[in-house]
Amino acid sequence: VWTPRNFVEAEIERIKELVGDKRVLCGLSGGVDSSVAAVLIHRAIGDNLTCVFVDNGLLRKDEGKQVEDAFRNQFKMNLVAVNAEDRFLSVLKGVTDPEKKRKAIGNMFVRIFEEESSKLGEFEFLAQGTLYPDVIESVSFKGPSATIKTHHNVGGLPEDMKFKLLEPLRELFKDEVRRVGLELGIPENFIWRHPFPGPGLGVRVLGEVTKERCDVLREADAIFLEELHKADLYTKIWQAFTVLLPVNTVGVMGDNRTYENAVAVRAVESTDGMTADWAHIPYEVLGRISNRIINEVRGINRVAYDISSKPPATIEWE
Ligand code: XMP
Repeated sequence: VWTPRNFVEAEIERIKELVGDKRVLCGLSGGVDSSVAAVLIHRAIGDNLTCVFVDNGLLRKDEGKQVEDAFRNQFKMNLVAVNAEDRFLSVLKGVTDPEKKRKAIGNMFVRIFEEESSKLGEFEFLAQGTLYPDVIESVSFKGPSATIKTHHNVGGLPEDMKFKLLEPLRELFKDEVRRVGLELGIPENFIWRHPFPGPGLGVRVLGEVTKERCDVLREADAIFLEELHKADLYTKIWQAFTVLLPVNTVGVMGDNRTYENAVAVRAVESTDGMTADWAHIPYEVLGRISNRIINEVRGINRVAYDISSKPPATIEWE
């Protein structure tokens, strides 16, 4: 029978045998898949694994810190963390088209990843947290989200990189990966983290992406997620996030009229991201979320709840 423990034991042996004393490079995103892959490989080969984490400045609040803390301090892994916020923001300047944003972010990621890896010496293997559904999707899937939005999870790296691929999770589904992650002692906040798009807040700050707008969005999003955790809803929801809209709206504060940002909060239920229903969050919880965001985040005076399902809407707004 398949159990997380059996899988971990067998996979560690397989990796040891396959890799021997060669070196492995792993791109760590902070998501559950690459985290589990990295920790598993680390168990097998220790310091012959080097992880590169590119902080593109488009992550959720405190996520970069959490990745560094878990992997460097707790798991004692070789972790190269690159703060590349300025470089990403500079290529996003003036860009409003969602696909152009994705291209700019994807290209910059590849450039930085190559720069960093070339400083680290020779590697035989490149590790990736590819799952079984990714394998299937990249081979045969020609559905709407493959063509409407380009994805960077699979095939984002250049073909001329001369690595062998090491993909220890490529036969697993997401729920199995989570169980493996728990078996490996990975913190729960990594295991249950919602899926997050490669371009991150780049496609959740609608219109032009600036540091100020990312910061405003991060604060609102952190409140939203915190309230979902408090209401015990976070793990029941497939994805929940906040979108910063490219409009200002009128409000009142005390005796004054305000003219500030509006955000949309989005929460969906799904099993694979291909179709999704908007989540029926209780009104009381929505009320608390709205009050807190408007009262606590400077620059936001209105909150809307997105009640669109996929299809025809997509999960992300861009
Ligand atoms: P949509 O918005 O197409 O999203 O309904 C389906 C799932 O894919 C994620 N998504 C992305 N993931 N790069 C990614 O790695 C992308 O460019 C991208 N766009 C959307 C989205 O968050 C959802 O989980």
